[in-house]
Amino acid sequence: MKDAIVIALDGPSASGKGTCGRYLAGKLGFRHVDTGAMYRTFTWYCLQSGIDLSHPARVLDFLRQWPAELEVSSDEVRLAVNGKVASPEILRSDDVANTVAKLSPIAGVRVWMVRTQRDCLRFGNLVMDGRDIGTHVFPETPFKFFLTASDEVRARRRKAEGSAENTAERDRRDSTRKVAPLEPARDAVVIDNSHESAAVTAEFMLAHFESKRRQLGL
Ligand code: C5P
Repeated sequence: MKDAIVIALDGPSASGKGTCGRYLAGKLGFRHVDTGAMYRTFTWYCLQSGIDLSHPARVLDFLRQWPAELEVSSDEVRLAVNGKVASPEILRSDDVANTVAKLSPIAGVRVWMVRTQRDCLRFGNLVMDGRDIGTHVFPETPFKFFLTASDEVRARRRKAEGSAENTAERDRRDSTRKVAPLEPARDAVVIDNSHESAAVTAEFMLAHFESKRRQLGL
């Protein structure tokens, strides 16, 4: 769909992007895309194969052949491998969490991911969350948000979700990598939601989006 609308939603781990993104997509009747899940799916597939992940060339050889395809289920766009979508438990496992930020800086991996994420436009209007959506995947969209929250609040949210992962190291890698580091796009609306609920944050985003959409006549 050529004229589809994309809401780009970036931010570090536990900043609320997933919850707010799904809420916005549900309210607007858009499709939601969790791009972190795509990187995690590739990581899981690599871990299963036992290939040496310290050699980017081998990782890229592997990427060229992996049998992954986009699919939509319950308005969520996901990557299926050999026709199967990995469960949230698998994608959130310690092995995957500890490895994903080592594979995501590889330039060829990012090229594949960005191309596949742009291809999601064929499913219609999108809310896409990740780290580089406003800066690299859809830099032309006028609808960009960057969510953030203090380190303490994000650590507390992770714990409440039952995750024991200390995400500080992953966030550090994501923010300091050379290719597409985590940073707000120049024209993103930056929201620190340390002291707001996800519902209040998402309603604010929705109101902002609707107002801008009217202003642009889209
Ligand atoms: O969002 P989530 O925590 O699932 O992302 C997992 C990892 O995938 C991030 O820590 C990052 O290394 C990578 N990622 C990325 N670019 C995106 C989305 C995720 O590099 N757009």
